[in-house]
Amino acid sequence: MEYPQIKSNIHTGSEEFKNNTETFQELLLHFREQLNISLSHGPEKAIEKHQARGKLLARERINLLVDQGTPFLELSPMAAIGQYNDEFPSAGIVTGVGLVHGRECIIVANDATVKGGTYLKETIKKHIRAQEIAMQNNLSCIYLVDSGGIFLPEQAKVFPDKFDFGRIFYNQAQMSAKGIPQVSVVMGSCTAGGAYVPAMSDEVIMVKNQATIFIGGPPLVKAATGEDISAEELGGADVHCKISGVADHLADDDIDAIKKCRNIVKSFKRIQKQPLNTQETEKPAYQVNELYGLIPSETKKQVDVHEVICRIVDGSRFQEFKQEYGKTLVTGFAFIMGMQVGVIANNSFLTSESALKGAHFIELCCQREIPIIFLQNITGFIVGKKYEHGAIASSGAKLINAVANASVPKITLVFGGSYGAGNYAMAGRAYDPNFLFMWPNSKISVMGGEQASMVLSTIGSKQAEELKAQFEEESTAYYSTSRVWDDGVIDPKHTREVLAMAISTCLNKKFGKPQYGIFRM
Ligand code: COA
Repeated sequence: MEYPQIKSNIHTGSEEFKNNTETFQELLLHFREQLNISLSHGPEKAIEKHQARGKLLARERINLLVDQGTPFLELSPMAAIGQYNDEFPSAGIVTGVGLVHGRECIIVANDATVKGGTYLKETIKKHIRAQEIAMQNNLSCIYLVDSGGIFLPEQAKVFPDKFDFGRIFYNQAQMSAKGIPQVSVVMGSCTAGGAYVPAMSDEVIMVKNQATIFIGGPPLVKAATGEDISAEELGGADVHCKISGVADHLADDDIDAIKKCRNIVKSFKRIQKQPLNTQETEKPAYQVNELYGLIPSETKKQVDVHEVICRIVDGSRFQEFKQEYGKTLVTGFAFIMGMQVGVIANNSFLTSESALKGAHFIELCCQREIPIIFLQNITGFIVGKKYEHGAIASSGAKLINAVANASVPKITLVFGGSYGAGNYAMAGRAYDPNFLFMWPNSKISVMGGEQASMVLSTIGSKQAEELKAQFEEESTAYYSTSRVWDDGVIDPKHTREVLAMAISTCLNKKFGKPQYGIFRM
């Protein structure tokens, strides 16, 4: 029998629905503006110089690399937005998941038009996040290299620490040991530490008269040894394909290099995907555009999450679990684009009952090997004497324990607020979700600005008012995505497709067996 269909209670003709839709359109205008800035590559002058050299732009290269007519799931395109005078669109690097010969691969492409493709903090975070996704989901990696290495003025922020530049090559070694294939296509410069990206890959392609690899460039060589040498002579494609053996394939140009790369991917070992219950895809019974009208222009109003679920899942069908218990957390099974998922969704603050229900549902998903979608709109756990005495702390701990140790993929979508411990219990970034996306209206912070200001004024701080403004600024989806706290801000109408691509990507790695520690009783 089919799962029961959710019946929407929204009146799409109501004043409130129209107002919400209008307010969301303004949010979307801003969203598109920010996205356009991010997708614009570097300054016009740098683009012209790049193209005059016969080179393709980073996203053009990716378009040629992926199977024709298939989508590319770009990750964190708005990284670095609103920082560095917006001189680093997409933080100078394009990352994402694309299909090459039918298999999902991680693609990392430097954008040489953005300050020579150099790395600052967010560039490194994107590169490392892409590798993390590759490791967590067993995806091959393709690096389209065109970078001047570290952005020198920021070196102290990007060189020495654990998750700084060096982590990229550490990850390459780890992936190699796990048997994850990695290919580098060197299409421009590849200097200093950056030289290890190709040097630690399984196979390397270099583009003639464009690509260079060296540990120290000509100016450094001159300074160190007095030797006068051109870049091409020091570490050009001919040198590395014919003399040093650092590269394996000589390509005529970008197009030839990408063809060669596709051929290399063809030889990768086929993997058996994790089996999953599937059925024929069915469109939701309600319009996806109606999602805009659900989000209250007044943030304090609660959204009935069933209204969101029924616009995302196949046929709006949802087999709800414990429908009558712990109602502030909605749990149940559904299909997205024909693939079975468990859904855990907030319908107000978390209580003891809802936390226990969530932990129980995670156990079901893990035993049945079903990925979990977390729909996050959470102000936190309920507070007050009654609830503390009712052991809300240890009920919450059970949910957090279950989330942290879940053996199936977790995909998180923040569609409203993401505050305090609610963020943790609902698979926030620290809980290693395989993917985490946000809607443009979302907010993320330890608590709301108003609450933070009240807390501070209660303890007598004079900073209460300033703090409120600071919280407002720091809690936006753009502030988050700029710092790569998420994998991207998405238009709500693309939610279904984005989630489906994420689920399909997660199936590249066999799910583990559930194993939990101690649940405090
Ligand atoms: N740190 C900071 N800024 C850098 C940089 C670096 N490592 N490499 C390049 N840039 C900046 C340039 O100053 C220039 O900025 P501007 O547009 O504001 O003037 C911009 O990036 C483009 O560089 P440019 O040299 O004009 O471009 P190009 O395409 O001709 O050459 C490189 C690109 C990367 C080959 C060349 O800039 C270079 O060799 N850089 C030094 C690389 C290096 O030694 N890195 C070691 C760091 S580990």
